[in-house]
Amino acid sequence: MIQFKNIEKKYRTKTIINPFSLDIEAGQLVVFIGPSGCGKTTLLKMINRLIEPTAGNIFVNGIDISAMNAIDLRRNIGYVIQNTGLFPHMSIKENLELIPKLKGEDPSLISKKTKELLELVGLDPVEYLHRFPKELSGGQQQRIGVARAFSTNSDIILMDEPFSALDPVTRSSLQDELFQMQKELNKTIIFVTHDMDEAIKIADKICILKDGDILQYDTPENILKNPANEFVEDFIGKRRVWNNPELLLAEDIMIHHPVKITAQRNVLQAIEIMKDNKVDSLMVTDKNNILRGMVTLKSIQLLNRNSAIELVMEQNIQSVSQDANLISVLSTMNEHKIGYLPVVNHAKQLIGLITRSSILSALSSQLIDLEVTF
Ligand SMILES: Nc1ncnc2c1ncn2[C@@H]1O[C@H](COP(=O)(O)OP(=O)(O)O)[C@@H](O)[C@H]1O
Ligand SMILES: [Mg+2]
Repeated sequence: MIQFKNIEKKYRTKTIINPFSLDIEAGQLVVFIGPSGCGKTTLLKMINRLIEPTAGNIFVNGIDISAMNAIDLRRNIGYVIQNTGLFPHMSIKENLELIPKLKGEDPSLISKKTKELLELVGLDPVEYLHRFPKELSGGQQQRIGVARAFSTNSDIILMDEPFSALDPVTRSSLQDELFQMQKELNKTIIFVTHDMDEAIKIADKICILKDGDILQYDTPENILKNPANEFVEDFIGKRRVWNNPELLLAEDIMIHHPVKITAQRNVLQAIEIMKDNKVDSLMVTDKNNILRGMVTLKSIQLLNRNSAIELVMEQNIQSVSQDANLISVLSTMNEHKIGYLPVVNHAKQLIGLITRSSILSALSSQLIDLEVTF
């Protein structure tokens, strides 16, 4: 959809953007994030040609935008900035309809769309259509800014720190609305922020920038789980996993070498293995390490020592896949009132075991990281 190919930007001798290449897929919300001055706004403004690159090309739907008429290009790309840029002497309706009218869209369709857009951003058309920007709160004005960006019928919307001047509550509700609108209307959005919480909340993909270089371009989950380097790690902060328990996966909290036994062995051998390993349960697997069941000391200690494990094991046991998250691990354990949960890979092979103490130690290692961070 949008491709940056070897884009560079220099002001005289100062390099702002190092050769930069990036592909943005249609329908995605991509967040550019990085410290102040790293080149976020510069990159954004290259997409609607408010800034021209020193070298390299940008393609939109395969077409090099340097060959397009810049005015047409801008009319077809929504643009939202921090102070909304609403025209103060125009009503909300006029502000929203300006570009569609300039583009010669059908007037009856325009006014219908204006109402729908206001509703989408949570403002009652009857009440707000004829007001002027100064008669709205900052948050309401920014809602109009968002609605206006969506009014262009463009597939692409650029947003440069649109919510950063808003109070946290308004900001949070606008983030939710933007997320919903994007899913409903399926736009490609490039959103600039320096706030990692905001990025995580709304992004399909996050592009982390520093001094005009891409440090990492990936989904929020992958960035949080596998920061590319120390800078990214510091930038996202260790607390992210703690704030987002769904990012802790079964494989992160499991014990890696659960003690196990094959079903052909007998009760005596099982008890010996438990004693040797100081455990009170064993996972039962077949020769291919497929999980078959489990035995506990309590359930077998009074049985005939020659009985085959096959015949005495518990067969219908719960297990989770390695990519189940902490929330679903905990709810499975609670729902079935169990203290152990075997972890299997996609081939149903046993790869680990979650116990209450493995969960505690995974969580407390996060807490210890937290203390270091603060
Ligand atoms: N017209 C200009 N002339 C010289 N330097 C500029 C100009 N515009 C921006 N810069 C510099 O380019 C760098 C990147 O700016 P910008 O893209 O606005 O950063 P960000 O949006 O990430 O805070 C900054 O160091 C800024 O000072
Ligand atoms: Mg900026």
